[in-house]
Amino acid sequence: MSSVVCVVGLQWGDEAKGKMVDLLAEKHRIIVRYNGGANAGHTIVHGDKTFKLSLLPTGVLRPDRTAVIANGVVVYPPRFIEEVDSLQKAGISITGQNLKLSDRAHVIFPYHMAEEAAHEGLAPKPIGTTGRGIGPCYADKAGRTYAIRVGELLQPDWLRERLNIIVPIKNKILAALGSTSQFKANQLADEYIAFGEKLRPHITDTTELLHHALVTKDTILFEAAQGSLLDLDHGTFPYVTSSSSTAAGIGSAGVPARRLTKVLGIVKAYTTRVGGGPFPTELTDAIGDQIRKVGREYGTVTGRPRRCGWFDAVAVRYTAALSDADSVSLMLLDVLSGLEEVKVCTAYEVDGKRVDHFPSDSQILAKCKPIYTTIPGWKEDISKLRKLSDLPTAARRYVDVISGAVGLPVSMVSVGPDRDQTIIC
Ligand code: GDP
Ligand code: IMO
Ligand code: MG
Repeated sequence: MSSVVCVVGLQWGDEAKGKMVDLLAEKHRIIVRYNGGANAGHTIVHGDKTFKLSLLPTGVLRPDRTAVIANGVVVYPPRFIEEVDSLQKAGISITGQNLKLSDRAHVIFPYHMAEEAAHEGLAPKPIGTTGRGIGPCYADKAGRTYAIRVGELLQPDWLRERLNIIVPIKNKILAALGSTSQFKANQLADEYIAFGEKLRPHITDTTELLHHALVTKDTILFEAAQGSLLDLDHGTFPYVTSSSSTAAGIGSAGVPARRLTKVLGIVKAYTTRVGGGPFPTELTDAIGDQIRKVGREYGTVTGRPRRCGWFDAVAVRYTAALSDADSVSLMLLDVLSGLEEVKVCTAYEVDGKRVDHFPSDSQILAKCKPIYTTIPGWKEDISKLRKLSDLPTAARRYVDVISGAVGLPVSMVSVGPDRDQTIIC
C-alpha cells in the first residue's frame, strides 16, 4: 500500500512538526498543508542553515517534491510571495511545478487583520491571536457573502466588482468596531490582481491533483499546522484557532481521512502554549523559565514568550484519539536535561474529584489541578545520542512513562533541532 501519512500536533502547537515533516518528506512525493495560514511558524534546521516557514508547506525545502497548499488553508498573497522570494534567495528553486496552490483556498485581505485587531482590542479576555487575519477570513468563508477564493484572483473584472461591494461594508464594520482603518476598493483590486498574476503559475485544482495521486498510488504527506488543542471544534474553545488542525482536517483538502495509512502524533517532551486560555500544567516558576530558556520557547511568528509546563497526558490521550494516532514522536527531550525531577500529568482533580478525561468546557479546564507522576531527572547532555539504549536510565524511564500514560508507542525521540538529532525507536 502506498504511504499516505498525516503529521499532526497533539498539544497547543509548536511541537516541532516542521522538523518531523522535513524528515518524512524524504519518503514522500507530495507534501500538503491543509489548514491555517501564516499563523503557523515552522523552523527547520539543516546543519548551519535555518529555515522559517509560515504559510508554505515544509515540502518546499525539497524542490524535487510537489508541495501543495490545499483547500482549507487561508492565504495572504504578499506573505506567499515574500516566502517564495526569500527561499529563492537562499538557493531553493520554487516553480509552478513544485509548489501548487488550491484555487479553492480563501484569500486574506488587510481588512481581515484590521477586523482581528479591533475584535481583540474590544475583548475583555482576548484570544491572543497572531494578528494574521486568520479568524476573520475563516468567518467570511463560513458566512460566504464576503469571501474571496484564490481562483477569483485570476478574474480581474469579477474581483474588482466584488471588492467594490465588500470593501465599503467592511469599512462600515471597522468604523462600528472603533477601528480607524479604512480601505479603498479599487486600490485593493489593483494590488490583488497583480498578486494573482504572480500566483498564477501555482494556482490549480489541488483536489483533482490529490485524487489523481491517490489513484496512481503516489506517496502523500499531510502536514498539520497548529496543534489539536487549538482545533476550532475540539480545542480549548474559544482560545483556539479557526481551522481544523486534527487529521480529520484533511477532508477539506478533498482527501477522506480513511485514506490515511498512518497518523503520526507529534508532542514535545513538555507542553507550551502561546496566547490566552487554560493550561493546567503551566509552570510560572523558575522551572518554567528554565524550560523556556533552554528550549528557546519564543513564538516564531510573533516573538512572544511561550508559556511552558509539564507534559499533560490527559490532553494528549484526548487529542491522539481525535486523530487516531498510531504512535507519537517525542520532541525536544534534550531540553529537560539538568532538571532534578520531571513530571507527567496523568489525571486532573476538579472540585475534589479525580477526572481522567479532557473537559469540553474551558472554564472547567481552568479549574483542573494536575495529578502528577514524578520521576527523577537526568543531568547528561543527550543531544549527541542516537540510540534509545544510550539514553540515561531516567530519560528512558521518562519516555516509557509518557508512552504508558498516553497509551501509544513512542516511535521517535528528538534530541536536537537538526535532522540527524533523531532517535528511531
Ligand atoms: P512547529 O510549529 O510544530 O513546526 O514547531 P516550531 O518550529 O514552532 O518549534 C519547534 C522548535 O524546536 C524549532 O525552533 C525547532 O528548530 C526546535 N526543535 C525541533 N526539535 C528539537 C529538539 O529535539 N530539540 C531542541 N532543542 N529543539 C528542537
Ligand atoms: P504552529 O503551526 C502555536 C495560537 C495563537 C492564539 C490562537 C489563535 O507553528 O504550531 P490565530 O492567529 O490562529 O487566530 O490565533 O492560536 N496559534 C498558535 N500557537 N503554534 C501555532 O502554529 C499557532 N497558530 C496559532 O497564539 O493563541
Ligand atoms: Mg510553530
